[in-house]
Amino acid sequence: MNTPARLADGRLVVRHGARDYVIPETCPHKGAPLADAYLAGPFLRCPWHGATFDVRTGQRLRGPVCPNLAPSEGDL
Ligand code: FES
Repeated sequence: MNTPARLADGRLVVRHGARDYVIPETCPHKGAPLADAYLAGPFLRCPWHGATFDVRTGQRLRGPVCPNLAPSEGDL
């Protein structure tokens, strides 16, 4: 099982290809800890209610209606 990595400062990071995407620690739906989320390629599925996001864009692809993620991209 793939899960996001936690940085020393507490942020979460997902590596996809040669890029790193920093994501919030909690799900925008009901606040699940995204450190426990499931990763399949660029797709991250929340462990509580299954909202699925594309970490490259932050867009919610399925699951409960909630705001998109707000990832940032860059070198760490
Ligand atoms: S808390 Fe993430 S989908 Fe509900």
